Amino acid sequence: MVRRLSTARIRMRVAAFISGRGSNMVALIDACATPDFPAEMALVLSNVVDAPGLDLAAERGIATETLPHRPFAGDREAHERAIDAVLVRHKIDLICLAGYMRLLTPWFVERWRDRMINIHPSLLPAFKGLDTHARVLEVGARWHGCTVHFVRAAMDEGPIVAQAIVPVAADDTAQTLGARVLAQEHRLYPHALSLVASGTARVEGERVAVRDHPLPVPAINPPEST
Ligand code: GAR
Repeated sequence: MVRRLSTARIRMRVAAFISGRGSNMVALIDACATPDFPAEMALVLSNVVDAPGLDLAAERGIATETLPHRPFAGDREAHERAIDAVLVRHKIDLICLAGYMRLLTPWFVERWRDRMINIHPSLLPAFKGLDTHARVLEVGARWHGCTVHFVRAAMDEGPIVAQAIVPVAADDTAQTLGARVLAQEHRLYPHALSLVASGTARVEGERVAVRDHPLPVPAINPPEST
């Protein structure tokens, strides 16, 4: 008798980490809900108990967990060991930082090395840190954008998976420029997650190698709508 192997594809179990509104998290949840997407959103975790994104996740039927850092009284690693236990309980394969506004310890970053990605609102390695849109306007840069990268211990550093660019308009404010970038973040993050979860993009020697892809470094460039 010939036994057929199951053709069901194994989908990576993803946890999104948030601290606030969660619009990128929603974009990831929606992408995961599309047919044949190589990942499923298994958990949304927040360090902020009243993060608005938690309600958005629950409305979409996604499990949520909150782990505030205050009870750990400054012991960052103890907080992250508690987070790690939650991730193990939910059988998580891959973490997407989606507006998680805490720097993770080297212990946690190493434990999830090459299994954790982040989105940042600038074209890294330019404009690491906060207030990127205002700083772009301040120096008069003509182009701006967003980056998805694998996480390393230093803030906003790590092998780049994908980027999207937007033009900077003469009359932009930090708000209008930020909104233009955010629209691209919502397209870029699902695209990058799909590349990583499918194994198409992987870290090789601190660069991201992309298999069977028409572009050497996948980018949404120029963006379809600005
Ligand atoms: C996003 O713009 C994301 O790129 C940024 O926080 C915002 C979260 O918005 N992340 C960072 O600055 C990380 N360095 P969201 O909660 O609506 O997704």
